[in-house]
Amino acid sequence: MTALLYLLSGVLFILGLRGLGSPRTARRGNQIAAVGMLVASVVTLVYVFDQARQSDALSVLWWVIILGALIGGAIGAVLALKVQMTSMPELVAAFNGFGGGASALVAFAAIVATDTIVGADVQYATETEVTVALSIAIGVVTLSGSFVAYGKLKGIITGKPVALPGGPYFNLMLVILMTAASVWAIAFNEPMGYWILAAIAVVLGVTGVIPIGGADMPVVISLLNSLSGVAAAMAGFVIGNQGLIIAGALVGAAGFILTVQMSEAMNRSIANVLFAGFGTEGAAPIDAGDKPVNSATPEDVAIALAYAQKVIIVPGYGLAVAQAQHAVRELATALEDRDVVVEYAIHPVAGRMPGHMNVLLAEADVPYDVLLDLDQANPKFPHTDVTLIVGANDVVNPSAREAGSVIYGMPILDVDLAATTVVIKRSLSPGFAGIDNPLFYMPSTLMLFSDAKVALENIHDALIEL
Ligand code: TAP
Repeated sequence: MTALLYLLSGVLFILGLRGLGSPRTARRGNQIAAVGMLVASVVTLVYVFDQARQSDALSVLWWVIILGALIGGAIGAVLALKVQMTSMPELVAAFNGFGGGASALVAFAAIVATDTIVGADVQYATETEVTVALSIAIGVVTLSGSFVAYGKLKGIITGKPVALPGGPYFNLMLVILMTAASVWAIAFNEPMGYWILAAIAVVLGVTGVIPIGGADMPVVISLLNSLSGVAAAMAGFVIGNQGLIIAGALVGAAGFILTVQMSEAMNRSIANVLFAGFGTEGAAPIDAGDKPVNSATPEDVAIALAYAQKVIIVPGYGLAVAQAQHAVRELATALEDRDVVVEYAIHPVAGRMPGHMNVLLAEADVPYDVLLDLDQANPKFPHTDVTLIVGANDVVNPSAREAGSVIYGMPILDVDLAATTVVIKRSLSPGFAGIDNPLFYMPSTLMLFSDAKVALENIHDALIEL
């Protein structure tokens, strides 16, 4: 019965993941997966209760479980309610870290603590010991790596890539030492090997993430998320829990696919993200001083939009910073009232996390059928009267088409092919990649220098006046 119910929860997780594949079904997918997790948690508790009832030797500290669930649940709920959308990647990083740490602790508790702390010298099957070593290694790397990622995003640690002496070879040496510690622990039945393994894994998490630039953190966080799943699956093998194995494997696979997709959307390989120290050099200086730009007022933009037939809105990170999702929707509605066709083009890495723009626009009830992805949007730009870029920069940077540019080859939204391009941002400052954007100086571009929310509200008011 337990195995069947774990299978049911596995099916619910898969249906949930399938739902998460599209904005239209994402909310339902999340709910289905949550039901799956509830089933798995209840089954585990009933199983533990049943085991304890059958064996006198097995006493369960129920108050620890209840208190743990209450404290953990309360912290999770408060964090999720309070977090700003712009701080979401940090929160995900912290959650991944805790996930990896929890898996490592489960593996530790199952074997290492029993041997070294309780003093029982039990023999375990070699495959169990291998999964313990893997769970500790991957879980602890995820824990320390995620908190370095958290620190970088929060600005506690520099967001710039920090070059280590020896570069990737230093980390390779740590991996070799970890393998040696694991062999010592497993082949010689020496629990101390696991403790040494954990200590080196803490260092590897730090030295693995610190050389990576802040701009690549979302990719790293996705990879760490994948690793936290692998660590959980390993912990599932250690304690023989099918639910944990299935859930961990799904997180591992989904996280890895997402990591690959994000790297592809930036035209980079995962190895390049992890080892290239992207952002240390090559960023072109911003020489806006002597280049003319067409500066526009909200009234100018309102006129351009009012007489357009087709408008495509391109949101970027600035939309999230300004929390302008409702203002953009209101402007779109006012345009639709004037029979202007309005669509939104969403770049896969716009913002700071996967689906960032989709989440914001869903919050403002923007219908899903007017959201275009990169492949759908690009053929439409040449037939568009106005593209309205709201706080986006790198994802619309035409220098990605030029060999030699830091972002050469990154697929971009071809906004410059529209008749008129309007860019709303506060200054000529660069985006996340730290490079200048030739779009701002093109004759067909109007720059509206303002906070995105204020600008959209002003354009809306000017449009109503027309
Ligand atoms: P960015 O290139 O980072 O540009 C955002 C722009 O928003 C900035 O240039 C900034 O200019 C403007 N801005 C900030 N606050 C604003 C406000 N209150 N009002 C108006 N504008 C504001 O953003 P993007 O185009 O969305 O590109 C995303 C970047 O993140 C890419 O480089 C991408 O590779 C990277 N990245 C994303 C992901 C995911 S999954 N999304 C993963 C890895 C890397 P001002 O300061 O002049 O206002």
